[in-house]
Amino acid sequence: MSTEIIKKPEDVLTMLDSLMREPAPFWNHFYSDRTKRIPFFVEYPDENLVSYIESGMLNKGRMLELGCGPGRNAIYATLNGYAVDAIDISEEAITWAMERAKERNISVNFECKSVFNLQYMEEFDFVYDSGCLHHLWPHRRVGYIQMISNALKSKGYFGLTCFAPGFTEIGGAYELTDWEIYRERSMKGGQAYSKEKLIDILGDYFDLIELRAMNECNDLDMKFGVPFLWASLWRKK
Ligand SMILES: C[S@@+](CC[C@H](N)C(=O)[O-])C[C@H]1O[C@@H](n2cnc3c(N)ncnc32)[C@H](O)[C@@H]1O
Repeated sequence: MSTEIIKKPEDVLTMLDSLMREPAPFWNHFYSDRTKRIPFFVEYPDENLVSYIESGMLNKGRMLELGCGPGRNAIYATLNGYAVDAIDISEEAITWAMERAKERNISVNFECKSVFNLQYMEEFDFVYDSGCLHHLWPHRRVGYIQMISNALKSKGYFGLTCFAPGFTEIGGAYELTDWEIYRERSMKGGQAYSKEKLIDILGDYFDLIELRAMNECNDLDMKFGVPFLWASLWRKK
């Protein structure tokens, strides 16, 4: 019997997944050469993450990082007093992240999983996503945001960096509508979000605390920051 049958809403998501690029092979290949000049291959944490943690506004406690890549933000948060669970779909990224944590002699709970297979209930004080959401197909975004809201304790914080609109020589991304992504069957490198769209998709679940362009940083700052990303902080309603 054919398995290509749509009987429930989840089957529509699975069908749409099948039309688009599979994330795990793409990201494993992406991380297979660690010497590539990719801005976020540095070991420094995001400058906005540093500012949130240094502000003292967030409760120290449990943090969940989604799409953690080679672990620079999860490692920084661990060194600054958080118990961190960090998830990525790429085995290559998780292997690299574990090596980095071992070099620093710290313990981070890195796990190779899809963010679509997570079911937490009010466990975390802080959820952080640096560059994951803008690579997720729109049909998966609703469940993703709901999952983040469920994972947070009451009044917990959600930190997000994602592409701002406007493609430049140093990076950035195209602001495609959700429908265009399916017509093109591509996000052309990642989906940029306008401020208004971010507020539209997150506003039912979170109050906006701060939304600004990331501050540009260099090696002397020992922080990561590029101006074509939004840096934002939200609090669960
Ligand atoms: C632009 S990278 C950012 C990596 C890391 N946050 C950083 O800033 O150094 C996006 C990450 O999202 C991960 N990712 C994409 N889709 C995912 C999914 N469905 N589940 C878990 N991770 C995913 C990729 O493997 C990749 O490591």
